[in-house]
Amino acid sequence: MAGTCVVGLQWGDEAKGKIVDLIGDQFDFVVRYNGGANAGHTVVVDGKTFKLSLLPTGVIRPATTSVIGNGVVVYPPRFFEEVDSLARAGVDLSKRLFLSDHAHVIFPYHMEEERLAESSTEGKIGTTGRGIGPCYQDKVGRRFAIRVGELLRPDHLRERLAQIVPFKNRLCTAFADGNATPKVFEPTALADEYLGYAERIRPYVTDTSRLLHEAVKAGKRVLFEAAQGSLLDVDHGTYPYVTSSSSLPSGIWSGSGLPAKNVKRIIGVVKAYTSRVGRGPFPTELDDGIDGYGERIRKVGREYGTVTGRPRRTGWFDAMAVRYTAALSGADEITVMLLDVLSGLPELKLCVGYDLDGERRTHFTSDAYELERCKPIYETLPGWTEDITTARKLTDLPAAARRYVDRVGELVGLPVSVVSVGPGREQTIRV
Ligand code: GDP
Ligand code: IMO
Ligand code: MG
Repeated sequence: MAGTCVVGLQWGDEAKGKIVDLIGDQFDFVVRYNGGANAGHTVVVDGKTFKLSLLPTGVIRPATTSVIGNGVVVYPPRFFEEVDSLARAGVDLSKRLFLSDHAHVIFPYHMEEERLAESSTEGKIGTTGRGIGPCYQDKVGRRFAIRVGELLRPDHLRERLAQIVPFKNRLCTAFADGNATPKVFEPTALADEYLGYAERIRPYVTDTSRLLHEAVKAGKRVLFEAAQGSLLDVDHGTYPYVTSSSSLPSGIWSGSGLPAKNVKRIIGVVKAYTSRVGRGPFPTELDDGIDGYGERIRKVGREYGTVTGRPRRTGWFDAMAVRYTAALSGADEITVMLLDVLSGLPELKLCVGYDLDGERRTHFTSDAYELERCKPIYETLPGWTEDITTARKLTDLPAAARRYVDRVGELVGLPVSVVSVGPGREQTIRV
């Protein structure tokens, strides 16, 4: 069976959604295995824009079955919002969208915990505010977590919330410093609210691990869609400025129940430059003012977060970072996205080393405190002035653009299989 994974090799927003959509018709199943509605995947099909946070991007392809695996954290109102908005766009998901009974449920107190942590000086990570971190904390902590399957048992849910909510109220009150007044929650009202969601969610809920095992046995083709980027992986990313799940393909086994041996091809997605939302080190960041290249890339690439609308930080391509994530993810190839955004820049820089306290480093460090002190060492390539958004084959690209793509592949040490020159499906060069 052909299991494939699409994974971002930077700090997220590499345009994974576009690649999943592009190859989605070759698969029977598309599976999300990590994260939640902190992700934001924008896909443009025939001029129509789809924005997905929680549901796999694969839902847009009518012949695929989509799965939200056990490794995902789910806020039910968001789930319905996306299902409803797709229904309005003519996408019917009944009998082809499944949600794991083992996925964990996000409650409003998770968002409150996050709001309070983010408003304290020590705890600030620059998160999306979707309750992701606190929900995963509860999952690993075991005592206060609720899984999707538990929503379907009314007496049990009422009992659990009656125990958990008073504790959460005390926690939030203790957490709040002078500036932030904590919200308090009422167990019965919360149980009523979530039991309402339970009835609507029930038809989607199943043992998705078994579903996938049966699919594999029947020879079905499965595509795994990573949320976030590899540098946000909780173990191998730039900790603590990461998300709370395993975004690397290592998350597939635990987050879907399918053993890693089923994944035969790993596609690493990179932007032709780098972006990052939230806090944390970013050695190649172009923080060069309103007339600088950083702002220009932000404007042309529309680098504003899909989930929060925050301006994304932008900078040059960091080959050190991508070589590291390419190795960790086991990527077989890379796809170079948003190349068109670099058109018109007189010269382009690629980070090929770091200067750490006067010494040259030739490998990446994911230690945020060390990375903070790394100064990029660049190689400079000429830019191009032509509009490349209508290029459909490599030979349509100006020589300087081809050279740039070749050099990115060389530095990362992997073949480039796709070059993307615009958001549309058709704005794609298959190499
Ligand atoms: P994801 O989170 O990795 O799926 O990426 P996002 O959807 O958050 O961000 C990528 C953005 O770039 C989306 O708005 C896409 O529509 C857009 N996009 C994708 N490929 C290209 C491209 O080649 N050129 C340009 N200009 N935009 C692109
Ligand atoms: P996609 O799938 C970019 C970032 C947040 C923050 C950090 C932790 O669209 O690539 P969290 O809310 O997860 O606890 O925030 O991770 N982050 C993302 N950045 N793209 C994403 O998803 C992200 N998901 C989380 O900005 O820095
Ligand atoms: Mg995104």
